[in-house]
Amino acid sequence: MKKSLLILNGPNLNLLGTRQPEIYGSTTLADIQSSCETHAKTLGIKVTFDQSNHEGALVDAFHAARGTHDGVILNAGAYTHTSIALMDAINATEIPTIELHLSNIHAREAFRHQSYVSRAAVGLICGFGAAGYALAITAMNDYLGNAT
Ligand code: DQA
Repeated sequence: MKKSLLILNGPNLNLLGTRQPEIYGSTTLADIQSSCETHAKTLGIKVTFDQSNHEGALVDAFHAARGTHDGVILNAGAYTHTSIALMDAINATEIPTIELHLSNIHAREAFRHQSYVSRAAVGLICGFGAAGYALAITAMNDYLGNAT
């Protein structure tokens, strides 16, 4: 069976491309999705791409991922820094999760240095812009014991 990863994106990431390009780059979320799909194909795994601006919908996505996906790559946007519910969802579902950010959150404002997601994630990739998505897919594939 092919491994299956959920790539889950939180609030405001639907605006990538036009949202503060000096911080987040000019690549759109649709561009990122298609490069994730291409990269997954080269690794022989499946990816499902999703985005929501709503905290509860992201929690629901974790619940629905149980038994469907082997790992989650999560860019939780600003919920990273505030959401105990999302941290609990990762712990409750026990789905290996990589925390991902386009920007280096530790080089930015102090309120972005706190991450509830980090407390539940297997690892963190940040600061590499859109390229971080492919890095995270490779890292999760290796973590799941699927190294090529
Ligand atoms: C982000 C970083 C967060 O602090 C911010 O709220 C975002 C995007 C990133 O990808 O760099 O929405 O997750």
